[in-house]
Amino acid sequence: MDKGKSEQRPVTVRDFAERKRKGEKLVVMTAYDALFGRLVDESGVDAILVGDSVGTAIMGYPSTLPVTLDHMIYHASAVRRGVKRALIIIDMPFLSYQASIESAVLNCGRAIQEAGSGAVKVEGGSPEMLDTVHALVRTGIPVMGHIGFTPQSVNTIGGARVQGREAEGAERLSTEANGLEQAGAFAIVLELVPAAVSERITAAIGIPTIGIGAGANCDGQVLVLPDVLGLNDTFEPKFLKRYAEMAGEVRAAIGAWARDVRNGTYPDAEHSF
Ligand code: KIV
Repeated sequence: MDKGKSEQRPVTVRDFAERKRKGEKLVVMTAYDALFGRLVDESGVDAILVGDSVGTAIMGYPSTLPVTLDHMIYHASAVRRGVKRALIIIDMPFLSYQASIESAVLNCGRAIQEAGSGAVKVEGGSPEMLDTVHALVRTGIPVMGHIGFTPQSVNTIGGARVQGREAEGAERLSTEANGLEQAGAFAIVLELVPAAVSERITAAIGIPTIGIGAGANCDGQVLVLPDVLGLNDTFEPKFLKRYAEMAGEVRAAIGAWARDVRNGTYPDAEHSF
């Protein structure tokens, strides 16, 4: 993406509000290390979410539940070292913010302090979570909310299911979104939500909605990097559009190198001292 000079300064949470006001879409992509953090940043996205999707996308776990705060700080610190401009949002993992407001403040504070992130993301919109978000914001920690399908509750939800299909569920999502705005969140991820429901929520609140499987009318979109690149070629949810097929390219490249090593054509004179 081509950016003017004024667009080269680091993105802040204030820019999120401004972009919604101007009706400009926000682009958020996940990354988990310095190499891809740099490449994603150089592509001109607004924010990089160091998602706890690292658990499933990179670490090989069946869900995000085994991911710890130490894992997240490790990955977010690496992303920090690769990124110059995009806002870095660190996803708070399971059990790092649910037990009490005090532990949430201390753990989110640690994530900001040790990983150098500009904001945190937490899942849920219950009254208890709204109190936590309020306390975090009062402490000076910008918070992105996350409602709809919340992967850390996969065991109570019973799988990755679309949320808010029925009127009652849709009403609950609207109440949660309003509550998160009132509590001081600067943006809200809507995951696996019918397009009509996210459209209503987006129109009703003053902070940006960032959709994943939530239709076109959110204020922005987020996707998981290895899915978009086709590196994770076994994951094919309805909402995902792949913009590359890199898994095949990786296998082909390594396979070609292995053939050259085995038949003695690598390294040749050009690649030797
Ligand atoms: O962990 C993650 O990558 C996320 C996004 C899918 C929103 O929470």
